Amino acid sequence: MTTRPTISPRPRKAKAGSVPAKATRPTPRASLFSARTRLLGSENAFRIGPHIKTLEDRGLKVIRCNLGEPDFPLAAHIAEEVKRQIDLGLTHYCDPQGIPQLREAVARTVARRRGIDVTPDRVVVFPGAKPPIGLAQQAYCDPGDEVIYPSPGFPIYESFTTYVGARPRPLHLREESDFSFSGRDLAPLISRRTRIIILNFPSNPTGSVVTREQLESIADVIQHKAPAQARIYSDEIYEDILYDGNRHLSIASLPGMAQRTIIVSGVSKSYSWTGGRVGWAVFPTAEEATVFKNLNINYFSCIPAYNQMGARIALESPLSQGSIARMCEAFTERRDLMVAGLNAIPGFRCSKPGGAFYLFPNISGLCKNIGAIDAHRRLPAADRGRSSPSTLVQMFLLWRYQVATMDRRSFGRIGSDGLHYLRLSIATGLDDLKTGLERMRVAAGDRDGFQEFMKEGKYAC
Ligand SMILES: Cc1ncc(COP(=O)(O)O)c(C=O)c1O
Repeated sequence: MTTRPTISPRPRKAKAGSVPAKATRPTPRASLFSARTRLLGSENAFRIGPHIKTLEDRGLKVIRCNLGEPDFPLAAHIAEEVKRQIDLGLTHYCDPQGIPQLREAVARTVARRRGIDVTPDRVVVFPGAKPPIGLAQQAYCDPGDEVIYPSPGFPIYESFTTYVGARPRPLHLREESDFSFSGRDLAPLISRRTRIIILNFPSNPTGSVVTREQLESIADVIQHKAPAQARIYSDEIYEDILYDGNRHLSIASLPGMAQRTIIVSGVSKSYSWTGGRVGWAVFPTAEEATVFKNLNINYFSCIPAYNQMGARIALESPLSQGSIARMCEAFTERRDLMVAGLNAIPGFRCSKPGGAFYLFPNISGLCKNIGAIDAHRRLPAADRGRSSPSTLVQMFLLWRYQVATMDRRSFGRIGSDGLHYLRLSIATGLDDLKTGLERMRVAAGDRDGFQEFMKEGKYAC
């Protein structure tokens, strides 16, 4: 039997001057922007920049513990290569998947460090390690599908989930478990709608790392419980920043896991090159890489080829290991100073991170001591919903003491009520960190100052 094609009746031409039928009138919308756009979150580390500038314009010195950006110069051997490539004229459009030289270097490096096979056709280069987070959610999730991500975690994980219409399934990390987790914690969150499971070790904002046993139990639960199409998104951007002899472990190295894991990294942290905007992902298959290549074409065409050549040198030059080691040594000294210093301030409790360059102290005691919990409870409902006691402390430290930090809500809002933490980046020189510590010590005892600050009404983030 043949099916007759359905033909819609041709719309009748309206008579000149006649009023169009009601049904054809576009429904007015309250907002200029789409509902989806209003669901998109942000990264507050960038948003408080203007506040810092206001303070600096007044001649005040701000201790910047807010940004996740190493404070070291780009190593000379990488900078020289970028300049050389510009002089050679590598300044035009290039392969949207990433230039072959960099994809080959990524494939070799990722394969060697993780003990797996990687081919360059599975590598895609992005403008940093951030874009593949949202692109992966667009590529793998239909509305109603679920994304599991760590909370506290990098804010873009949660931000994009709602934007693409997926269901956020935060995996709440506990201080008692050093903000790490195992398969037992993950299992209850997995469902038949799970499409992406995000892992991030070493982690932002807590600096947590994972043990081999924990990783094996996570892999085991995923193998047995997750749908076959679910992808593990392993954000390994801090893979080189480890302390106390910790070695980087990737879930992709475990048996059977490489074929379902997207491994993501880049130059921003390891090579102190946040402005280079070069990141990459290794996909389980070349077909998946092609989908992301096409997303690149749609969004930004390609990434500057001269920076990609610099990234290739970063990965392959023997000089890079020395730069990374010196940076980690400096971070270790700062971490030890700051952890000891914070723990000596009443109201702070800070554990030692195993990697990355952040501290994530519990400030429940501080919130109570200076009255931040009560002050938050007394806020007008609209302000209360956009804030938390740790947000008030963050703003107090910034405006009154010129120490820039990040509140707990900045790292995943869902389920963050009642959790009082701050993130402090130690990517700031030792002398500044000492000044910051002293300012926080005084602030922690300044209940009156906090009450006055609240009366001024400058607590909005
Ligand atoms: C966990 C995590 N993933 C990704 C990124 C993004 O890195 P990039 O600057 O390379 O885009 C960051 C940056 O802070 C991060 O902390």
